[in-house]
Amino acid sequence: MIAETSDTIAREEQFQLATYKKMPVVAERGEGVWIFASDGERYLDLYGGHAVAGTGHCHPHVVAAIREQSEKLLFYSNLVYSDARARAAEKLVSIAPAPLTKTFFCNSGTEANENAMRMARMATGRENIITFSGGFHGRTADAISATFLGKYREIGKPNVPGHLRAEFGDIDSVRALADESVAAIMLEPIQSMAGVKMAEPPFYRALRELCDARGIVLIYDEVQTGVGRTGDWFFAGSKAGDGVIPDIITLAKALGSGIPVGACLVTERVASHIKENDLGTTFGGGMIAMAAVRATLEAIENDGMLANVREVESYLRDRLKEVAQIVNVRGRGFLLGLEFADKAKPIHEALLELHVITGTSSDPKVLRVLPPLCLGKDEVDLFVDALSQVVGH
Ligand SMILES: Cc1ncc(COP(=O)(O)O)c(C=O)c1O
Repeated sequence: MIAETSDTIAREEQFQLATYKKMPVVAERGEGVWIFASDGERYLDLYGGHAVAGTGHCHPHVVAAIREQSEKLLFYSNLVYSDARARAAEKLVSIAPAPLTKTFFCNSGTEANENAMRMARMATGRENIITFSGGFHGRTADAISATFLGKYREIGKPNVPGHLRAEFGDIDSVRALADESVAAIMLEPIQSMAGVKMAEPPFYRALRELCDARGIVLIYDEVQTGVGRTGDWFFAGSKAGDGVIPDIITLAKALGSGIPVGACLVTERVASHIKENDLGTTFGGGMIAMAAVRATLEAIENDGMLANVREVESYLRDRLKEVAQIVNVRGRGFLLGLEFADKAKPIHEALLELHVITGTSSDPKVLRVLPPLCLGKDEVDLFVDALSQVVGH
C-alpha cells in the first residue's frame, strides 16, 4: 500500500467513529461504472456506494447541472419559489405513475419514510403502521421501529409505538392485523438488505385491495427500487408487481446521483390532508439537490438507461448460468441477489482482490449486485470472468 493511501486510512480511523466495516480502498475519482483509487488502481463498481450511483459516477450531465446551479444559488429554503425546484418536481411527477402527482422533498431515505408514515397518519387519523419481516426502512426513530430486520429495532430502542409486523408474501398475516387502527401498510417491494426477496405478483394486488377495502394508505419504500433500478422507473406500476400503484412512493439513494436528497411522491387524495406546516425540513428542496434530481432523471432518459438495464440484466443472467455455484438469481434489473450454496462473504472479499466491488446482505449466502444503470456487456464479462476465477466454473 502506498504511503498516501495508508495515511488516509489511518487518519480516517483516528477521527471517524468506526461504524462501518470499510474496504481498504481510498476512492479518489469515479467515472461511469469505475472507481479510481488513490494508489492508481481502478475498481469495477457493482455496488454504486450503496446503490446511489444510478447514473454512474460523475455523469457529465449531472456534474454540469450541479456546477451551473452552484454558480447561481447554493441554497434557499421553501420560503421562496425556485425554478430549479419547480422543474425537478415537475420532472419527477412526469415519470411517476398517474395518480402520484405531488412531491415532498427531504434529504434521505429514512426521512422520506418518516414523512410518508406521518402523512398516512394525518390522512387516516389512525396510528398503526404494518411493515414486514425482512424490510429495511432507515435508522431514525420511527423508521427503525418499522424495520423488522436483524438487530435494527434493537439498536433503535426504545421503539416508537404503533408498529405491527407481518410476513412478506403472506397476505393472511397482513389481513389479520389490518383493522381500523391501521393507517398504512409500508413495504420494500423488493426486500434488498434481506437478500433481494420478491413476493409473487398477486401479493401486491392483494395488498392494494386490502388497503382500498379498509381505508389504509399503501406506501412503497422505493428508496432502492426506484429511479430506474429495476429497468422501470419504479417497481410501482410494473408487471412484477401486477401493475399495483401505491398511495405514496418514497425515494432517495440514486435520485440525486450522490447529492443527498429524498422524496415522497403522493396522490392528490393523501395530499389533500396535508396542510401548511404539517411537514418540513430546512434543506428539503434546496437548489443544488433539485438541479441534481432533474439532471439525474434527464440523464437516465437521454442515455436510454432503462432499456440498458433490461438488456444487460438479461445478458448477465445468461452469463451467470455458467457459474455452477450460483443456486438462484433473485430480483429484477440491477437489483440482483446471487444466491450461493455456501457463504457469500469470502466471494465478496475475493472479488475485491480482483478489483470488483459487490455487496453482501443479511442473508449470508447472497451477494448483492447493484451497479450503475449504465453498466455494459463488456463489464458484465469482466465480472463473470472474475467470479468464475473466484469460485471456479
Ligand atoms: C429500502 C431502504 N429504505 C430506506 C433506507 C434508508 O435510507 P437512508 O440511508 O438514505 O436514510 C435504505 C437505506 O439503505 C433502504 O435501502
